[in-house]
Amino acid sequence: MRLQGSMRITESGRLEIGGCDTIDLARTFGTPLQIIDEQLLRRNCEEYRTSFGLGGHTDLVFYASKALLNKAICRIIQEEGLGLDVVSGGELFIALQAGFPPDRIYLHGNNKSPEELEFALDSGVGRVVVDNYFELETLDRLAGRVPSGRGCRAAVLLRIAPGIEAHSHEYIRTGQTDSKFGFTLANGDAARAVRTALDARHLDLRGLHCHIGSQILELDAFRHTTAVMVDFLQSLRSTLGWTAEELDLGGGLGVYYTEGDDPPAIASYAAAVRESVEESCRRHDYPRPRVAVEPGRSVISPPGTTIYTIGAIKDIPGIRKYVAVDGGMNDNPRPALYQAKYEGLLVNKASLPPQEVVAVTGRCCETGDMLIWDLHVPAVESGDLLAISCTGAYTYSMSSNYNGLPRPAMALVGNGRADLIVERESYDDLVRHHLVPERLTGKGAVHV
Ligand code: LLP
Repeated sequence: MRLQGSMRITESGRLEIGGCDTIDLARTFGTPLQIIDEQLLRRNCEEYRTSFGLGGHTDLVFYASKALLNKAICRIIQEEGLGLDVVSGGELFIALQAGFPPDRIYLHGNNKSPEELEFALDSGVGRVVVDNYFELETLDRLAGRVPSGRGCRAAVLLRIAPGIEAHSHEYIRTGQTDSKFGFTLANGDAARAVRTALDARHLDLRGLHCHIGSQILELDAFRHTTAVMVDFLQSLRSTLGWTAEELDLGGGLGVYYTEGDDPPAIASYAAAVRESVEESCRRHDYPRPRVAVEPGRSVISPPGTTIYTIGAIKDIPGIRKYVAVDGGMNDNPRPALYQAKYEGLLVNKASLPPQEVVAVTGRCCETGDMLIWDLHVPAVESGDLLAISCTGAYTYSMSSNYNGLPRPAMALVGNGRADLIVERESYDDLVRHHLVPERLTGKGAVHV
């Protein structure tokens, strides 16, 4: 497992993160445990902030909170000066509960309900990123109804599907023409939507948005997207006389999960995006819009590590050795969903040489509940602790209670200090929303 951020192996051969011994963390908080390396998280934010804030233009960086969101993470994102991209009333609620300034929040989503749009307008979010005609009409109507004093024109961006196929898993590609997201560029829908938004009484169109996918490791995909979007802006300027003040290019920068992943540095990504915006604008003599980006994975994935306890071991000689951990697809569905690959390390045997290859499986009742197919480890025993790295993004946020498994705890570590930021769910949490109608509890119920 490649050591990232503040990870290090101590002289006694144990894995330390943020100056905290991971075995002590497991003992204190239990396993499965999601650990967040605060220093690395802050460093990623800072790299985004500085590389998009240099050179005479202050561009905008919104952390895509769908990757991982809780109140403590919100505080850090706020302190680090980034904005927040939320995708539902629920994410907006969490952000507001954490005291995040609403004007630094953008609301996304391909099927926002009228209630969510009203909630966004009432709380004064910075922008609503409008995805489709239904939303365009609904928002125009609702913005006109919102009590005066808030201004009755909602600041919006329009989401465009630019027709770009980035090389990532097909479920996480979003910019291509055959996509549920956004107004299609290729068939003229996008241009019609811009016209409609400009004509809408209660909408204030500030610019355009696009997002071509996730875990993208080639900068050319971003350069190409930028060129397509600026060409489109230019065509809108010449046909409608409208000039965008903002161009939001979404998220998507990939990270290192396993050998072979070679992600560009955040600063190189920023330079590529900004240079291609500038070059395209120069080509058309178009006034440079403010650029916005919405990174999720590249901010929060590397700072995340999950610690599991190994329980059952099943060796099928000549076939495979299954090593089962106390979590699985319920806390990290990515391998099952996307065939995602991860690296791992036995934290209590961190400096011993590898001796065998094992398959790390979860504890869910599914054959597909695998976390790592071929992990090289020292001789493994029940009770060992396994760390899986780069699990900060799209794990906890996509977790479930499948098989009645409570969600794990989450601890923030840094400078030798560890704080619980999300409590482990309890069995009581599993039945918190269950109701049993009286007719099922009263006389006449059949007891077998
Ligand atoms: N902006 C928009 C509009 C998005 O849809 C997304 C991610 C982002 C920004 C952030 O993208 P990032 O920088 O994290 O790549 N569950 C999948 C990833 C789904 C991404 C959804 N949208 C996975 O685990 O790989």
